[in-house]
Formats: sequence, structure tokens, C-alpha cells
Amino acid sequence: MATERTYIMIKPDGVQRGLVAEIIARFARKGFTLRALKMQNVSKEHAEKHYADLSSKPFFGGLVSYMCSGPVVAMVWEGKDVVKTGRKIIGATNPAASEPGTIRGDFCIEVGRNVIHGSDAVESANHEIALWFPEGVCEYESCAKAWIYE
Ligand code: PPS
Repeated sequence: MATERTYIMIKPDGVQRGLVAEIIARFARKGFTLRALKMQNVSKEHAEKHYADLSSKPFFGGLVSYMCSGPVVAMVWEGKDVVKTGRKIIGATNPAASEPGTIRGDFCIEVGRNVIHGSDAVESANHEIALWFPEGVCEYESCAKAWIYE
């Protein structure tokens, strides 16, 4: 049975623009299971930890201040191949290259305001879930599973 999990985060622009329900609906309608969700303001220290791999990039300072500019919605979604499929649902990092029908393809224009984050690999997902949900996620048996998986 599928137990892969990914970290998905609606960034401050997605929250301010009223896209929270739309984004959650796209993951839920696909058949993925929501394991954790919270809305929070992000400290500079926490944003720097999340994006630590990018600390040498010229856009790092701007990315961190963008992430601290308003609340985010942090989530954990579970399902078969959810990391890879979640990235497909989200679309290419630069919205200029995102296909219509993806979240970024439908809702944003610039990479510095690209609405949503999704883990890029299972290993980074586990690391990000531990960083954002040190309290753990909600363990429960989804009654829909038998209607989603063979
Ligand atoms: S890189 O340079 O290839 O490592 O970056 P990339 O993998 O394309 O993106 C990593 C995250 O950095 C964000 N990003 C930016 N933010 C602000 N401004 C600019 N110019 C910019 N370029 C990349 C990008 O949205 C990725 O964030 P997440 O949250 O992981 O999607």
C-alpha cells in the first residue's frame, strides 16, 4: 500500500490571492491523502533552513523575504508516487515554462511569485516534513483507499 509522502507548501502569494482551496482541491481530487495541514507565519531562520541548499544563489535573500512576507499553508500529502506526481500537478518552477492545467501554469507568471512549493525527491520530502511538522503527522486509515488503488 502506498506510503510515500511529500511536503507541499502554498506560498504567501498563493494564500493572499485566495488559492488555498483551489490548490487543496487539486491534490484531493487526484486521490492523494492529506496527512497534515497548518497555516503559519515563517521566521527568517526557518525559511533559511528550508532553502539552505540555495544559500549561495543570487536570489536567496529575495526568496527568503518573500517566504516571510505573509502566512504559508504547510501540508503533507500521501499516495503512490506523490512526490513526482505532485511536481507534475504543480508545474515547472518557472511559470513561463509551466503547462496550462498545472497550478503554476494556471495561476502565476514569475518565478519569484510562483505560488507553491513541492518536494523534489523522496529524501528531501522526508527532510522537509521533519522540518515543518516536528510534531508528526496525522495517522489514520483512509476509507477511500480501496476506491483509488487496485
Ligand atoms: S536552481 O537555481 O536551479 O537551484 O533553482 P530551482 O531548482 O529552479 O529553484 C529552487 C527554488 O528557488 C526558487 N527560485 C527563485 N525564487 C525567487 N527568485 C528567483 N529568481 C528564483 N529562481 C528559483 C524556485 O521557485 C524554487 O523554489 P521552490 O519553493 O522549491 O519551488
